[in-house]
Amino acid sequence: MIRVAPSILAADFSNLAQDIKNVEEAGADLLHLDIMDGHFVPNISIGPPVVAALRDKTKLPFDVHLMITQPDKYIDSFVKAGADIITVHAEACTHLNRTIYSIKQHGIKAAVALNPATSLTVLDYILEDIDMVLLMTVNPGFGGQSYIKSMTRKIRSLKNMLDERKLIVDIQVDGGINTENIKEIIDAGANVIVAGSAVYKSKDIRATINSLRMMG
Ligand code: DX5
Ligand code: ZN
Repeated sequence: MIRVAPSILAADFSNLAQDIKNVEEAGADLLHLDIMDGHFVPNISIGPPVVAALRDKTKLPFDVHLMITQPDKYIDSFVKAGADIITVHAEACTHLNRTIYSIKQHGIKAAVALNPATSLTVLDYILEDIDMVLLMTVNPGFGGQSYIKSMTRKIRSLKNMLDERKLIVDIQVDGGINTENIKEIIDAGANVIVAGSAVYKSKDIRATINSLRMMG
């Protein structure tokens, strides 16, 4: 099953509650929340208070993508704010295994994100312990960038790696995904699709979500 996770980075920040309701009513499966600290990535977005304020505005699971250094310090805060999935970047974690366990101790899902140039080999000894891998298909930090072509091969390699080891781990993709390139991305093996601009800039959000799900 393909799931679509609209990223609120492309929403109207002065009207977040309504913009979240719009994607929920249009059939989104998850809500992707991009957390940026101005250190790990060259941009600052939102933190736990905003996530907490949004929690009762929707029933959608909160998929929290931490683009921050020292994520361990903030896991408790994001769990309290209502995260259902927390994704940390391998590049930001000195003790990735410890970080993943501390997320799972809260009874929520844990995922690892990789920047485009980071090799899949860093997943070798953590793959059994995580619920999802997030492959960045642009360099993190901003919405509205173009999909990096070579990431299709990376998605395929990860899918093969999981199949060889008979592991069920979601493959999430994030950055530059739209109704034009979705087919090759899903064919390669991705099953959780993050889309910011493609969803929020579209005139018919429901139709866009459906076509990202490859349904119509
Ligand atoms: C980029 C973020 C993405 C971003 C995607 O650093 O992680 O989630 O919002 O936006 P689009 O779909 O516009 O590339
Ligand atoms: Zn993201």
